[in-house]
Amino acid sequence: MRKKFIAGNWKMNLDSRTAGSLVQDLKEKIAQGNFACCLDVAVCPSFVYLPAVVEILQGSQIKIGAQDVYFEGNGAYTGEISVAMLKDIGCQYVIVGHSERRHVLGETDEIVNKKLNAVLTGGLEGILCIGELLEERENNQTEAVIERHLRQGLAGITAEQMSRVTIAYEPVWAIGTGKTASPDQAQQAHAFARGILADIYDSNLADSVRIQYGGSVKAGNAADLMNQKDVDGALVGGASLKAEDFMGIIQGGSGKSNCCCCG
Ligand code: PGA
Repeated sequence: MRKKFIAGNWKMNLDSRTAGSLVQDLKEKIAQGNFACCLDVAVCPSFVYLPAVVEILQGSQIKIGAQDVYFEGNGAYTGEISVAMLKDIGCQYVIVGHSERRHVLGETDEIVNKKLNAVLTGGLEGILCIGELLEERENNQTEAVIERHLRQGLAGITAEQMSRVTIAYEPVWAIGTGKTASPDQAQQAHAFARGILADIYDSNLADSVRIQYGGSVKAGNAADLMNQKDVDGALVGGASLKAEDFMGIIQGGSGKSNCCCCG
């Protein structure tokens, strides 16, 4: 059975004070709920706040991810951050291929693949984002885009390394727009993505990979989305910036107001 995984992508938001109080609040709320046995939770602050967040979350069940990374190991790459640096400060996950990096900052599938390779080779876990633009959905290209993002993003990634990969299906038209994919639309896309994983690797491996949904997830729609057979959690933007909102999603994912296995 796949353990659900809910990650908050803070994007370029918050400051040292608000980031600090958000994680402090989450740490306390998560400790009270004891969700660890039924789902994994992570927060992904901007680079500059990572060390402070790592410090506050010492001893917490909440894990920490970065929003991006550079694929080279070290050297003359002004402004970039390496996998080793992220590992050094206590980061466990790295998001790669987020649609804002693809569509606002011009990242290609090839760059995304190099980044994921670097993350896995460097011993961290990757969250590979995939998903179509509105125009692509309207032109019936959703499946083609999912397939391309998976095949190109996962090029050269071994079956063994796949145990450290989470896929995040994030239809771009649903990100930050308040327009969530319906549970059916999400399930359909996730099942298709799992089929592609089975084709690239095998069906056992495909069954073990977690596929998060992302795009306007909030407390009110989290349970319906995550109740779908192939939806294994959520990558949350806007609603991860307030402890109460994020906790509502975590509770939706765990199926109860407390933990699904601890009662
Ligand atoms: P949103 O962002 O929840 O604000 O739509 C999701 C994401 O971009 O990961």
